[in-house]
Amino acid sequence: MNKLTTKNITVFYDGSKVIDDISIELRQGEIVSILGVSGVGKTTLFNVISGLVMPDSGTVELDGKNITGTTGNVSYMLQKDLLLPYKTIIDNVSLPLIIRGEKKSKAREYTAKYFEEFGLSGTEYKYPRQLSGGMRQRAALLRTYLFSNQVALLDEPFSALDNITKGNMHQWYLQVMEQIKLSTFLITHDIDEAILLSDRIYIIAGKPGKITEEIIIDEAKPRHKDFIVSENFMNYKKHIIKSLE
Ligand SMILES: Nc1ncnc2c1ncn2[C@@H]1O[C@H](COP(=O)(O)OP(=O)(O)O)[C@@H](O)[C@H]1O
Ligand SMILES: [Mg+2]
Repeated sequence: MNKLTTKNITVFYDGSKVIDDISIELRQGEIVSILGVSGVGKTTLFNVISGLVMPDSGTVELDGKNITGTTGNVSYMLQKDLLLPYKTIIDNVSLPLIIRGEKKSKAREYTAKYFEEFGLSGTEYKYPRQLSGGMRQRAALLRTYLFSNQVALLDEPFSALDNITKGNMHQWYLQVMEQIKLSTFLITHDIDEAILLSDRIYIIAGKPGKITEEIIIDEAKPRHKDFIVSENFMNYKKHIIKSLE
C-alpha cells in the first residue's frame, strides 16, 4: 500500500488554476522528486499535502486515511527553512519535541543521539551563525525528521548551497537515508539532484502545473559517487531535458 497518495488535486488562486488534477504516490521508504521550473506550483502542492492549503478539489491520503486539510501528519521543511538565531543548535533541533509537549531536558537527551549521524557532533551548544551553510542545512533536516517519522516533505532543501557543498550534502544525504529509510517527497528544479537522489521522479510542467511524466531511476542504492558521470545517468538527463522542453 502507498504511504501517501494525492488524488486529483486542483488548486485555484484568485480565480486562476495553479495546479491541475495532480495524482501522485509515495511508497514506504522511497525518495520521490517533484521536478519542475519555478512558478509551476510545486510549493502549492506541498502546502496541500501538509494541510496548510485546502485544495479546491481532490484528496490527500496517509496510509489510506483521508487527511486533506489537516496539519501535523507529515513533517515539512519549507523552501527557506531557517533556524532560530537566538537558540542553540540542540534547542533548534529539539523544537518538534517541545511542541509535542516534551520537557526540554528530555527533548535534548533524545535529540542528542542523532547529532553524530547527521554530522553535527560538537555543534550542540553553538548558535546557527557559528555553523557553515551545509551544517545549518543538516540541522534543519534533522529538525524536519524529528517532526514525524512517517513522511517528510523537503522543498528545495539544497538549493541555497554552493555547488561543492551541495555535492557533499547529496552524498551525505544518500548515506543517512540508507539508515533512516523515511518516505520522502523532494521538490527540486535541479535535474542532477533529482536523478542522483530519487527512486522515482515526477515531472511537473505547464500553467496550470500538471504531472506530465513519471520516471523510474533504476539504479541500486546506496549509489556510488560515479553514478553522476555514468552513461546511465546521462541518458536519464537527456530524457528529462527533452521532456522539460
Ligand atoms: N498564496 C498565493 N496567492 C496567490 N497566488 C499564489 C500564492 N502562492 C503561489 N501563488 C502563485 O501560484 C503559482 C505557483 O507558485 P508556487 O507553488 O510557489 O510554485 P513553485 O514552488 O513551483 O515555484 C505562481 O504563479 C505563484 O505566483
Ligand atoms: Mg517553490
